[in-house]
Amino acid sequence: MEESLRFLTPFAVVNRVTNAEVEIGGQRVPADQLLTLWVAASNRDPRQFPDPHVFDPTRDPNPHLAFGRGIHFCIGAPLARLEGRVVLGILLDRFPHLRLDPDDGPRFMPGPTLTGVRKLPHLLHRD
Ligand code: HEM
Repeated sequence: MEESLRFLTPFAVVNRVTNAEVEIGGQRVPADQLLTLWVAASNRDPRQFPDPHVFDPTRDPNPHLAFGRGIHFCIGAPLARLEGRVVLGILLDRFPHLRLDPDDGPRFMPGPTLTGVRKLPHLLHRD
């Protein structure tokens, strides 16, 4: 779950407005600026995640920002994590041989700010 959230961050951006002048990464940003923060990019930051473009479910620690950070941290994160575990458990119990179709890869939604699949060709049974 955690590595999936890091690797394919569902909400790729969060927005903020500066209420005072601030310096970020050596860049001066004036007050009252709308900032679009690419959480998905920070989740591939090699300074935080060794081999960031590798999907590693055993990654530990995994300090991803898929649920945001600070006072607006996602209030639904525990529910989303629980739902994910329940759904994946039921799905894999019911379809133990479920896997992606190696000849027909997933198709993603076109917009860059939301990550989700439009089409996920899969195989349900062992060949
Ligand atoms: C995988 C599922 C989810 C993801 C990836 C996600 C992601 C996020 C992110 C990134 C933020 C921070 C937005 C920001 O800082 O501007 C956020 C905030 C929020 N999320 Fe989620 N969320 C998920 C599921 C849920 C669920 C299930 C609920 C409610 C049942 C929920 C309710 C909220 C609310 C109310 C906020 C605003 C919190 C605040 O501003 O104080 N989210 N979410």
